[in-house]
Amino acid sequence: MTDIKHTREIYDKFSEHYHDYVTSKKNTHHRFIEKPAMLKLLKNEIKGKIVLDLGCGTGFFTKKIFSLGAKEIIGSDLSPNLIQIAKKENPEINFYIGDSRKTSFKKSQFHVINSSLMVHYLQNLNSLFKEVSRILKKNGLFVFSMHHPVYDVVHRENISGKKIRVFKNYFHNQKYYWDLGPKMKKMIAYHHTFEMIFDALNKNGFIVEKLLEPTAPKKAEKFNKKLYSLSNQRPTFLLIKARKIK
Ligand SMILES: C[S@@+](CC[C@H](N)C(=O)[O-])C[C@H]1O[C@@H](n2cnc3c(N)ncnc32)[C@H](O)[C@@H]1O
Repeated sequence: MTDIKHTREIYDKFSEHYHDYVTSKKNTHHRFIEKPAMLKLLKNEIKGKIVLDLGCGTGFFTKKIFSLGAKEIIGSDLSPNLIQIAKKENPEINFYIGDSRKTSFKKSQFHVINSSLMVHYLQNLNSLFKEVSRILKKNGLFVFSMHHPVYDVVHRENISGKKIRVFKNYFHNQKYYWDLGPKMKKMIAYHHTFEMIFDALNKNGFIVEKLLEPTAPKKAEKFNKKLYSLSNQRPTFLLIKARKIK
């Protein structure tokens, strides 16, 4: 089975569970770290714009972006079951099923393309960024978040019953496995160095306007002490706001 099929199968199988998880207050990673930082990058860029949310899941954040005043918003995702929930939950938004690396959207269709936590599922960033560049207007914005390049490098492992901090190889583009909660285990993601990310952006006509490495705020501590502590020691997510200049 290819990795993309594996990703689709897991999201399809656990679609209801995933929807409950992303919309629940227990989802402290999204709630306190990633989503507030994404909103910081997006908030002044959406009004009156035609927007695409790539890898939109069940559309929870698509709706949030729409509420920032988009003229039109479309969501698209690999998983038919997630899209089914997205349509049911957000009847005012159009959703499509598809692989982000090969879409049926028109050339230069969008002013802004958002992609929250999808990029790390892909090994070859060039194939994704090439498609994003094709369907984005000139001077348009591509805003995305992904696992931080050191996420799987600085790591805590159970060694002889003790949690030990280990340091893994940074210079590669190989897969690693991670758990999205207790049910969605052994998800496949790919490691990318900063150089790989910036090279793929530059090659496809993008320049980076802003980069964020958000940490959990103090108010997160009472909901998830471990997350608060860890996220303030090593970065969890990387967020990039890139403009298509060519
Ligand atoms: C962690 S979820 C994030 C969902 C949503 N963006 C959010 O922030 O709540 C990652 C999503 O990326 C989607 N995905 C992974 N690879 C994809 C691909 N090649 N094309 C489209 N969607 C993909 C998955 O189906 C899943 O819905």
